[in-house]
Amino acid sequence: MQIYLNGSFVEKDRAGLSVDERGFLLADGLYEVVRVYGGNMLRLEDHLERLRHGCRELSIEYDDFSQIEEIAYKLLGRNSHKSGQATVYIQITRGVAPRKHRFPSKGTRPTVYIATSPISPNLDQIKAGIAAITVDDIRWKRCDLKTIALLPNVLAQEGASRSGAQEALFVDAGNIMEGTHSNCFAIKAGRLFTPPLSNKILAGITRKIVFEICAQTGLDVYMEPIPRASISGLDELFITSTTLEITPVIRLDDNIINESIPGQLTMQVQKMFYEYIARECDYPALLDIL
Ligand code: PDD
Repeated sequence: MQIYLNGSFVEKDRAGLSVDERGFLLADGLYEVVRVYGGNMLRLEDHLERLRHGCRELSIEYDDFSQIEEIAYKLLGRNSHKSGQATVYIQITRGVAPRKHRFPSKGTRPTVYIATSPISPNLDQIKAGIAAITVDDIRWKRCDLKTIALLPNVLAQEGASRSGAQEALFVDAGNIMEGTHSNCFAIKAGRLFTPPLSNKILAGITRKIVFEICAQTGLDVYMEPIPRASISGLDELFITSTTLEITPVIRLDDNIINESIPGQLTMQVQKMFYEYIARECDYPALLDIL
């Protein structure tokens, strides 16, 4: 398996980095995960725009975004990931410099790492739904940036796994914000809603696709908080992400949602999502998995 690191394609187990790399020492960097269906990257432009925004906000001096597409396609080919499904992982960190909290001297080159991996959707979870837990949102106030500083997410996901759940949803000021690696949508009395964009959540690209595909069929999506206190009265709940696509949540903490089966509206959004993948990536293989 080959990866791309700072200008070279190398075997993954031969790749090496300085221990002074600021991503390693300080989590000083950003990442993206892009989904690939049948060799076509889904919404790469949106992922690159989010990365560009992150670099600007964090003053990471990287601007060669135009090369990423070509590198990713080369890697997909070299690793034989052009058929079926895969992910492209892109990470940009502030580079190698002696450990100091302040930025390194001007001209320090950011580290660019790109890798591809095969992925198979978890069909059981997509069809039958998952259990999730809620946890206190102990993260910082820039969750709109996709940084590699993921320790709160790691701890929350570990907590979920240990209690037999598959995802943890962060609760801030009484409201469910998002998952450790997903956005979240709720349905009550036929009304579909998701927390508004803010510095407290990531502007997910799958979330954006849900808005678009719902708009095409005249289904309104409202940007409204999901109060933790309201979960026992919710009709449906689902999470969205590049890796989890549209995954129903059928239990949240001790609350059973829709008698433990994915709801009608959730399944409608799943169907619209796979129709969208069929059109956008010329990948109809998922149309009959539901
Ligand atoms: N994570 N919120 C958080 C905190 C995330 O980490 C992610 C995705 C999302 C959904 O974003 P998108 O729809 O653009 O994938 C929301 C990736 C998949 C990960 O960390 O592996």
